[in-house]
Formats: sequence, structure tokens, C-alpha cells
Amino acid sequence: MSAPITILAIESSCDDTSAAVLRDGRLLSNVTAGQAVHEAYGGVVPELASRAHQQNILPVVDRALKVAGVDKSQLSAIGVTLGPGLLGSLLVGTSFAKGMAIALGIPLIEANHLQGHILAHFIQEGDTDRPVPPYPYLCLLVSGGNSQIVKVNAYDDMEILGQTIDDAAGEAIDKCSKVMGLGYPGGPIIDRLARQGNAKAFTFSKPNLPGLDYSFSGLKTSFLYFLRDRLAEDPDFIEHHKEDLAASLERTVVEILMKKLKQAVRETGIRHVALSGGVSANTALREAFRAQQQAGNWDIFIPPFSYTTDNAAMIAITAYYKYRDGIFCPIEKPAYAGGRAASLNARRPDGPTASKNAG
Ligand code: KG4
Repeated sequence: MSAPITILAIESSCDDTSAAVLRDGRLLSNVTAGQAVHEAYGGVVPELASRAHQQNILPVVDRALKVAGVDKSQLSAIGVTLGPGLLGSLLVGTSFAKGMAIALGIPLIEANHLQGHILAHFIQEGDTDRPVPPYPYLCLLVSGGNSQIVKVNAYDDMEILGQTIDDAAGEAIDKCSKVMGLGYPGGPIIDRLARQGNAKAFTFSKPNLPGLDYSFSGLKTSFLYFLRDRLAEDPDFIEHHKEDLAASLERTVVEILMKKLKQAVRETGIRHVALSGGVSANTALREAFRAQQQAGNWDIFIPPFSYTTDNAAMIAITAYYKYRDGIFCPIEKPAYAGGRAASLNARRPDGPTASKNAG
């Protein structure tokens, strides 16, 4: 019997410090420390995020190894998110991972954060296997930094079919929530309020873009102007209508996301459709996916909540596949914030493209 492949993975691309241990494709631990410090600012403050990562990284890695019952001498490799993300945050995780790989004399494996989100569907836990999407499948990747439709041909072969040309879906929800004076991040708060509201109460503008690209900046502006006009008539308008506002905003975002995704299914003929990224925690979006499954249109794959927001388990599974193929990372390779290096190793069918948003 060959020796087990045991991966320690580290994720620190934004405001969550996370470490996970995975053995032969099965998750043994996934420990994440969030950063409440940003709540007061209504968004992630990069410098504060780096400082909090510095404080969290050692206890989080230590805890992940303890929960897994794994000694560092048993590790086969260290996986780490090299990008895209906030550079100061990434430097904490990558420096720690590199130091540990050098000290233990084991390989370093890089993971693209977005590739990790998409491969989260392949994480297995415990004794029973979760169904995994067969290749090729379509993945709607929606987070605070991205809104993309990706055709996944293999773990290392992905094509971006469409993506946002401006704001990401999560970013738009967070900004609208901020305008309403709600907390940060807005997504979970809007979701909670929306459950008590009328989703048809208000109408906001939806984009009319050709192809499979998304746009959310028009919705954000329409929401802002709508509130400005109503507040002029009733200063307590938000307080009186926050549930209906949240439900109507959520419905609009889900309709925008689903319209292009349905178009992608029609155009590619691929009926296996997965959901990834922080916004995939959204109740209405999950319901819209389930409705497609119930109608017999799609086979859907929705990850457990713990793998929707930033986590190291998704980096561990990415690193595991790369380890099996002998794909290692030179120790001198630097972390990257965004730009071309953030391209998911992906291409558009009509030419080379890079995902422009970090996160
Ligand atoms: O993937 P993620 O944790 O971080 C990155 O952006 O990489 O996604 C965070 C985003 C935030 O915009 C947050 O508001 C949104 O996911 N989010 C939600 C929900 N939970 C988190 N949006 C809508 N409904 C939710 N339940």
C-alpha cells in the first residue's frame, strides 16, 4: 500500500485565516478565524486584515493539525493560496507556508483562490461520499469579488464563459446593505430580512448585456436613487420597509444571475450545474437552483455552507490533485493580488482573458 498523501493547506486571501488538513482526498480538519474588526468600517480594511492574519495564523494552523490528529512530520506537502486577493493578507499565509515547507523539507503547492472555490465540490468528509459533479460542468462562482460562469473541463482546465464587467454580486448586495445602514457583510443580513419580506414589493433595474457577462453596478445605482427619492417623502422609509427592500433586492440579484446561467446551459448543452463562492449561501439562490432540479432541467451541486465562504479545505483539495500530478510551486514564486495571474488558469473560448476582480 502506498503512503497516504497528507496535505496541510492555508488560505489568507482576504479577511479569513483558515487552515485545513486533508488525507487522500478526505478532510480531517478545517479551522477558520474570521475578523470582526472590519464590521465597524463596513468593509475589509486591508492593513487591519494583514495584522489580524499575523495574530491568527499560528493558532489556526496549530489547531487544524491538532483537530486532524496529524503531526507535522506526517505532512506530504503544504498547499497555499497564492492569489488573487489582498496582497498584505496573502503575504502572511504564503510566507508562513513557505517557511513551513522549507523547514519540513516538503513541497509547496500553490492554489488559485477561485479554482479552490470551484473545486470545493470535490471535498469528501467522513465515511460517506457526497456526489461530485462530472466533467464538464458549469459553475456559477459568486462571491464578494467575483461573478463568473465557468465551464469546468477538468480540475486544471476551466473556461470563463461570462463574468461581471463591473461589481460582483456580493459586492452589490454589501453596498446596498451599507446604504440601508445595515451591518457588514450585508449578504447574510439581507438574506435574513428577505425571508420576512415581499420580493415583488419593489422593482430595480436589471442589465441588458449581450452574451454571458454580468453587470451589477446599474442595480446598485437604481437601488440608491430609489431610496433617495423615497427618503425625501418619508425619512423612516428604510425602517418601515427593510424586509421588502431586502427581499426585492435579493430577487433582482438572483434573477440576474439565473438568466445568464440558463442561457449558458442552453448554449453549451451542459446540464450539470454547480454553485460556489460566498453568495452561494443565499437562500433564494439555492431555491432557484433547486427549482431547476425539481423541474428536471439541471443536475445541481451545492456545497455545504462551510465550503461556500473562504476556507482552506478548498485549497487542500486543489493541492491534493496537484500533488498527485507532481505539480509543485517554486519557493520563490510571489503571491499575486489580481490581474492576469488571477486568470483561474482559465481562458475564454474567444481568446485569452483574466478575471479582473480579486477575492
Ligand atoms: O467567497 P466569500 O466569502 O469572499 C470573497 O469574496 O472571496 O464571499 C463573501 C460575499 C460577501 O459579499 C457576502 O455578503 C456574501 O458573500 N454572502 C451572502 C450570503 N452570505 C455571504 N450573500 C447573500 N446571501 C448570503 N446568505
